[in-house]
Amino acid sequence: MISPDSVEKVRDLADIVDVIGEFITLKKRGVNFLGLCPFHNEKTPSFTVSPNKGIYKCFGCGESGNAFKFIMEHEHLSFPDAVRYLAKKYQIEIEDNQDAYDATQANFRESLYIVNKHAKEQFHNNLLKTDEGQSVGMTYLKSRGFNEQVITQYEVGYGMETRDTFTKDAINRQFDLSTLQKLGLTTTHEKDFFSARVIFPIHNLSGKVIGFGGRTLKSNPKIPKYLNSPESDIYNKSRVLYGLYHAKKAIRQEDECILVEGYTDVLSLAQHGIQNCVASSGTSLTDGQIGLIKRYTPNICIVFDGDKAGMKASFRGIDLILGQDMNVNILPLPEGEDPDSFAQAKGEAGFKSYLEAEKKNFILFKMKMLLEDAKDDPIKMSSLVKDIVLSISKIPDNIKRAVFIKQCSRELKMDEQSLFNALNEHLYQKIKQQPQKETPKPIHISIKSQKKSNEKFDQERDIIRVILEHGTKMLNDDCSVAEFIHAELEEAEFKHPIHKKIISIFNDYMFAENKYFSPKTLIENDDKTISEYCIDLSLQPDELSENWEKRHGIFVMSKEDNHENDVYQAVARFQLKRIEKLIQLNLKELLKEKDEDNIIILQKQNMMLNTKKNEIAQFLSTVITKA
Ligand code: CTP
Ligand code: MN
Repeated sequence: MISPDSVEKVRDLADIVDVIGEFITLKKRGVNFLGLCPFHNEKTPSFTVSPNKGIYKCFGCGESGNAFKFIMEHEHLSFPDAVRYLAKKYQIEIEDNQDAYDATQANFRESLYIVNKHAKEQFHNNLLKTDEGQSVGMTYLKSRGFNEQVITQYEVGYGMETRDTFTKDAINRQFDLSTLQKLGLTTTHEKDFFSARVIFPIHNLSGKVIGFGGRTLKSNPKIPKYLNSPESDIYNKSRVLYGLYHAKKAIRQEDECILVEGYTDVLSLAQHGIQNCVASSGTSLTDGQIGLIKRYTPNICIVFDGDKAGMKASFRGIDLILGQDMNVNILPLPEGEDPDSFAQAKGEAGFKSYLEAEKKNFILFKMKMLLEDAKDDPIKMSSLVKDIVLSISKIPDNIKRAVFIKQCSRELKMDEQSLFNALNEHLYQKIKQQPQKETPKPIHISIKSQKKSNEKFDQERDIIRVILEHGTKMLNDDCSVAEFIHAELEEAEFKHPIHKKIISIFNDYMFAENKYFSPKTLIENDDKTISEYCIDLSLQPDELSENWEKRHGIFVMSKEDNHENDVYQAVARFQLKRIEKLIQLNLKELLKEKDEDNIIILQKQNMMLNTKKNEIAQFLSTVITKA
């Protein structure tokens, strides 16, 4: 137990702006500080911190509390652990008589961190203190030009050649075998997962180790170059960026995040004085990762090695970053160079001046690159225009969009208006495209006779039903149903108070945790009204088919094997309802409006809304065929 006096001491000394400032960027607004809420995804900041009162509150999602609560929520810690965390941060000595505090006593997540911490220390120790570590691991790292400082800073380690050194020792020290296996440190055959490898620990935002990447030192092409820890309760690959813990301060200072591909690139850049650098670890960026960067800066610079095909392949992924309203720059490196080799060759000053001189806005860079290929080929030209306009359409901010359209019209020597028309086309199509691109499944629904839709059907409730019923299933290889709904409806407003609450719990969970939603969060919720409502709802899974059969004359086949369609339809029906409401509002305004110019604007809006409405309606009818 931590003595109450100690708790008070920590409470008094912890500066809430400083505590929270470690995880998100806060800007001063009057007496308070304001930032983007880390507990839900938002575009305009509503997360307010009061240094005087020592509390925070998000006016978007309602999350609030003091410094302890923030650390508990953000780092998933118990109250005592949050106190310990802050005591450590401020080097406050506390009375804490929990001597036997170890993996067996801590809560589950905490025990995983403890095991990883142990592994990290073992590997690091292997590298620095054993003969094999020195002669094999360190020799390799030195030959790559890494110095001890960066090796220590990033806690690089080494896994011994014998395949059970780590596991045997860990078992001897009473670590639980199944935990070692859960974390992927030990194989099912009770061997070490990482052996004869240099090991890069992967840290979360507060510096705890959540997984590892291990680079082989053998040149056998049959051995994978990197082995990476599997996902676990503390390691969700799509929400982690390698190096962010070490880079976050510099990212904020420079107001820019440099993105590279690999572990060694991050180390090499850091060693050469470029500290604001993170790696995607070889995969394309996810929304979650972009969200992490966005906590510290809206500016991202992607460093590409000189390979053209590789660059083109990543263009699609970059649209995702644009979609989160980030400014994306590209830094192409000369042929044959990668960030690691280039930083070594140029040094800090050389790299930084190259960066400032050569980095290019992504959209303009993409346009120029495609333009080289397309020059006098009208067919290529028209697909280029489509491609560029598609990228621009991803930018949520309409002023930025307009600026890019103007610039492209100049560069492409094309009429601005026709680019705008193409842009609008994309904007209208957005809603329609999203659900459609992932519907390869056969059709499961048949119409008996089509009647007019009955308004009593509750679209909000149906979304929650779908979350409860299918949330944990996958829609395709890398997107779960929960993730899809989270992405689709994050901005949507739910009217009914209980639905509002449920959706905000769901969104918070999805933002904070991972793509695998656990219905338990709702069904076993502390708030009785929520748990009862959700239990009720998941106990009537056939409501939909009955409703649709009775009210619309649509016969719904067994939902066991058509969860994809069930999800896409629920979302589409929800969106349809939203649009219908907007149309009503628009019509009301039209009736009231006297000013002729405004009437024209409202009529245009009306047309646009109706186009969208028809598209969704059409999507719904494509998954419905005649019996
Ligand atoms: N990667 C991986 N598995 C592989 C290859 C690559 O997970 N088999 C990931 C790693 O995160 C790696 C990144 O992709 O850091 C980039 O790959 P690569 O450029 O091949 O590796 P580097 O980090 O540059 O390593 P090195 O410089 O030692 O080749
Ligand atoms: Mn490399």
